[in-house]
Parts: sequence; structure tokens; C-alpha cells
Amino acid sequence: MIIPDSTLKITHEYIKKAVSEGNTVIDATMGNGHDTLFLANLVGETGKVFAFDIQNQALENTAALLEKEGVRERAVLINDGHHNIEKYVDNHVNAVMFNLGYLPGGDHSIATKFETTVKAIEQSMKLLSPGGLISIGVYYGGDSGFEEKNALMEWIKTIDYKSYTVLVLDYVNRPNCPPIAVMIEKK
Ligand SMILES: C[S@@+](CC[C@H](N)C(=O)[O-])C[C@H]1O[C@@H](n2cnc3c(N)ncnc32)[C@H](O)[C@@H]1O
Repeated sequence: MIIPDSTLKITHEYIKKAVSEGNTVIDATMGNGHDTLFLANLVGETGKVFAFDIQNQALENTAALLEKEGVRERAVLINDGHHNIEKYVDNHVNAVMFNLGYLPGGDHSIATKFETTVKAIEQSMKLLSPGGLISIGVYYGGDSGFEEKNALMEWIKTIDYKSYTVLVLDYVNRPNCPPIAVMIEKK
């Protein structure tokens, strides 16, 4: 199979190309910590992952997962909204991951929102090193996410093409609102 069969796999494939040992990276939507763990393994012992979530449950679940995998010290877990990224991170980063939507297995009403997501993406774009990458898994469908998805898919078209390459990967012939992968690379 040449085309990855999930949005998660697509984003991981791209992020792997952008991140090396010793890098500083951000997980903007920590959730249950699967991407924080993925990033912690990529940056190794000498790197750092800054991970954000507004829900305590996410921090608890992520801390437990990182502990179990023996990489807890590679991550700084921050209980704050990602629109405050620049309050916590002041050095350049090589990658920022977003997985929009709600905490799997959690409260569907506590989901990402376009207004704060866009602030977080703008701050991430400033922090990115040249050649750095932002990946966004745009989850929507069922009872939520349409407003954010519609606004975001329009907004990304306005990003300056001279400074950033923006790529959208969408499983257009799949039913039930499959998530969309968006990549933003700093030139
Ligand atoms: C789809 S989940 C992320 C899944 C996660 N990547 C994983 O591996 O489990 C989205 C997460 O974003 C969080 N979230 C919602 N609004 C946020 C905000 N303004 N800042 C940071 N996190 C937020 C939610 O609490 C939820 O845990």
C-alpha cells in the first residue's frame, strides 16, 4: 500500500521527516498522549516535547502513558490552552502537531475551536525553524467540528505562499467525514 490508510499515519509520516534527535517540538492537543509519546520517541533523550491540553484528564492520561514507556522526562505537560503557546515556548521548534476535536472517550463539548486553534497555529508558525512542519489532523463529523473545519479550511488558503507551503490530504471517496490532514511547512 503506497497511500497510508489513516490520517494519523499520514501526519506521522510527514512529522518523522521533520524531526530528529535533540529537537524541540510541540503537541498542541495532548489528549490521551499518543502523539506526545510519538514525538518523545523521535526527539530522544536530548530533545523536548511541550504538550498542551485544557483538560486535567488529558495530563493525567498522558503522564501515565509516558511513565509506562519510560520517557516521562522528555515532555513538559502544560495545563493551558494552545493559544498561549508563546507564554511557555520561546525557542525555535521543528514540528508542531494538532489533532483537532474532543478527547477520545471524554466530553464531546470540550473540543477545539477555530478562534483559539488559529491563534495557536499562528504562534506555531512564528516559532517554527525553516524547514519545520505543522501537522493538523482535522477531525469533524457526528455531533461536532463542522464550524471549525469549514473556517479552518478557508483560513489556510490565506497563508502567505512565499513563506509557507500548505498541503491538504483528504480521503475524498470515503464515507462518514474522514479526518483531513493539513501540513504547513516553513520555507
Ligand atoms: C482529538 S483530541 C487529541 C488526541 C491526542 N492527540 C491523542 O493522541 O490522544 C483533542 C484534544 O484537544 C484538547 N483541547 C481542546 N481545546 C484545546 C485548547 N484550546 N488548547 C489545548 N487543547 C485543547 C481537548 O481537551 C482534547 O483532549
